Amino acid sequence: MHTLTVNLADRSYPILIGSGLLKQQGALDAYLPSDDVLVVSNESIAPLYLHGLTELLGDRRVATAILADGEQHKTLATLESVLNRLVAAGFNRDCTVIGLGGGVVGDVAGLAAGVYQRGVNFIQVPTTLLAQVDSSVGGKTAVNHPQGKNLIGVFHQPSCVLADTQTLDSLPDRELAAGLAEVVKYGLIMDAEFFDWLEANADKLIARDAESLELAIRKSCATKAAVVAADEREQGQRALLNLGHTFGHAIERCLGYGEWLHGEAVAAGMCMAAGLSERIGWLEAGSAARIAAVLASMGLPVQPPAIDAKALYQAMTLDKKVIAGEIRLVLLKGIGEAIVTADYPEAELRTELDASLAAA
Ligand code: NAD
Ligand code: GLY
Repeated sequence: MHTLTVNLADRSYPILIGSGLLKQQGALDAYLPSDDVLVVSNESIAPLYLHGLTELLGDRRVATAILADGEQHKTLATLESVLNRLVAAGFNRDCTVIGLGGGVVGDVAGLAAGVYQRGVNFIQVPTTLLAQVDSSVGGKTAVNHPQGKNLIGVFHQPSCVLADTQTLDSLPDRELAAGLAEVVKYGLIMDAEFFDWLEANADKLIARDAESLELAIRKSCATKAAVVAADEREQGQRALLNLGHTFGHAIERCLGYGEWLHGEAVAAGMCMAAGLSERIGWLEAGSAARIAAVLASMGLPVQPPAIDAKALYQAMTLDKKVIAGEIRLVLLKGIGEAIVTADYPEAELRTELDASLAAA
């Protein structure tokens, strides 16, 4: 087992990474202040891993909230159903909420833990690659509003993240690839050496080579932990984690949520961010093609779907990073060096959108 730490003074917490951790008796004991535990999971994941987790919890009083599967259930109504389970179980402020699942379950469980009795203990047990490298770390929790994704949420850090890499064995290939998009993101924003390694090892990752996957998870979590420790509330550096997301969210919005997976839209979005960065002379010629080649080798889309350029641009103006009407983007100054900026010619952005969509 490898342990990383998210350094947040008296709210610091470990990220435990390893194969078979859900079978390691006592693994969570140090992070449970009382015997009252609510496990939040979903109807697809619970049959696979809930039994193992409850074994780990031993004789504690364990209640469960099993959600319907899917992003469309990341709603206030679902949050209310989880809070109702906590009330019905009679749990107090010393209880623990555990999220067992992907980013959807983790975000809902975390928000429930963040607001129940003004905040109770929370543990993340992520079971998708995306959740193990991104959403389980850093304390962002949310549900969606009909008008937009993740509009209702709080920052609420977990007391522990337990990532059992064996759970990825049952993850569909498409979901694994979507998680790899976020892994590539870490290389692109601040670790050129890691990007080189991903380029050389993409085939092993896609083939689920256990050692390579675990290394990719460790490197990704180390970067995320460092960024969160430096900028917990996204006042600056944390926004770099949104590379490709302004384009990607716009693709998701234009296509309809769920048509493309989030990681797929981010992959195409990172290619557009790289294309624009190269177009304005920040990124060495050929780098955008190199980035697209790595993502394509992981089975990810490297062009947006065939949608209208004006609609895509319009959707980008709804991004949370927009300030005073200016679309702030995460762009690349090099592989391994990203900045958040509105300082690019708008005409070049429109040209990049047109060029990418023409190739779609
Ligand atoms: P997800 O939670 O919908 O999981 C993807 C699918 O895989 C689901 O059908 C799920 O039931 C299934 N699944 C999960 N684990 C499995 C396993 N081990 N075996 C088989 N099937 C399994 O999607 P996701 O990609 O994990 O997360 C996406 C969500 O995460 C989005 O809502 C996004 O907004 C959120 N997110 C949050 C943060 C954050 O910092 N809080 C960061 C990134 C993304
Ligand atoms: N996934 C982006 C963040 O946690 O800030």
